[in-house]
Amino acid sequence: MDFAQAGKILKENGQEHVLRFWKQLGKASREALIAQIASIDFRALARMADLLSKRGEPPAKKRAPVAPKVHELAGKARARAVAAGEKEIAAGRTGVLLVAGGQGSRLGFDGPKGAYEIGPITNASLFHYHARKVLALSLRYGADIPLYIMTSEANDAATRAFFKQNGFFGLDPENVVFFTQGMWPGLDDGGKIIMAAKDRIFMSPDGHGGMVDALEKRGCFADMRKRGVRTLFYFQVDNPAVEICDPAFIGLHVLEKSQYSLKLCAKRDPGEGLGMVVKRGDSFDMIEYTEMTDEMNNRRTKDGELYFKYGSPAIHVFDRAFLEKEAAKDMPLHLAHKKIPCVDAKGRAVKPSAPNGWKFEKFIFDCLADAKRVTNLAFDRADEFFPVKNAEGNDSPATCRAGLQAKWRRQLAEAGIKVDESVPVEIDPVYALDAQEIASVGLFL
Ligand code: UTP
Repeated sequence: MDFAQAGKILKENGQEHVLRFWKQLGKASREALIAQIASIDFRALARMADLLSKRGEPPAKKRAPVAPKVHELAGKARARAVAAGEKEIAAGRTGVLLVAGGQGSRLGFDGPKGAYEIGPITNASLFHYHARKVLALSLRYGADIPLYIMTSEANDAATRAFFKQNGFFGLDPENVVFFTQGMWPGLDDGGKIIMAAKDRIFMSPDGHGGMVDALEKRGCFADMRKRGVRTLFYFQVDNPAVEICDPAFIGLHVLEKSQYSLKLCAKRDPGEGLGMVVKRGDSFDMIEYTEMTDEMNNRRTKDGELYFKYGSPAIHVFDRAFLEKEAAKDMPLHLAHKKIPCVDAKGRAVKPSAPNGWKFEKFIFDCLADAKRVTNLAFDRADEFFPVKNAEGNDSPATCRAGLQAKWRRQLAEAGIKVDESVPVEIDPVYALDAQEIASVGLFL
């Protein structure tokens, strides 16, 4: 793209102001700005402006939400699911999707969130646990399990460097695929692109839902097809307790011929900020916690249980072919009002004290609406959900470390190993993934 082409496309889209400072820019700045303009998806931009213009309008009426069926696997049903999952993994048909493109602003950590040190003794990073679990699984099942890691422009180079520095945590680099998600411009109230500087458009990652489009554009679906991968385990970077490729979950997904499967856990309290899977007529939907009313949060069944009992910690399994079809569709857009540092029409830096612009994102769970076959599996959060979201309080490094310690202690106890409460414990996934493995390997100190 050259200056004339950039000017033309901006004019067609009512965004000529992006080149307002062109004459003041040096060669490198001009090239960088043209590259940014060339990267913009102007069709998506038009959808964003349309959404903005409609804000304030009442939302479309939807059918009343109903709590969906949730499997609670036990006994023979669990054994059947585990066997099917183990078969799927051992056949090399399973891949892992890790979304790690977020900005981690609540934690306030400078660097990719996956590099955050969470190991109670070794200070091992979040990425360490994820990668070592994938390695342990591929050793256990004698199969390749490719790990696809979504990064964003802001943390891609640092994420790749972190894996390199750490020898890919023992994984074969051929089986680790980094792919970057898309970036979207921020818009002001009038739908105009916000300039972060005279030579730079303000851009931010397009949300975890951007994964679907990015998998297609970066050739990951093609890579999966080549490898014979059809079942994809999805999780977020902030939860080191997640049971990656839990065979029972993978197996249930396969046996149910599911397109989109979700692990769900009982909410900590009625108002906990977890998304809620619901059915509306024949389709599925996720209600964000911000959209749950008090009445919905506190509704009870006649047995006194919460009616909307289960929340989603964003642990999913996808059928690859289903996700590939989703990539051909426009996912819904979500907008958030934010304080966006920028330059004004005169090129003066502005540090807003109140929200001045809009960021746009796609959410992965919006794929639910298109899934005909959805499977929900209940799990015990004490086993696998201690996310690191906030710097302090709930869902912080402190609660995560405490959760990991308790989990590892339970596993050791189950394996017949007593450890004094005052002694910190840490278990590397390659040493043992569960109590059974601890018991079979034994303890060497
Ligand atoms: P969160 O919603 O927790 O956002 O992301 P975040 O950016 O990590 O943290 P905050 O909200 O700024 O504090 C959930 C998961 O989705 C990924 C994150 O990396 C995390 O694993 N994500 C989020 C992306 O990969 N890309 C995005 O654009 C947003």
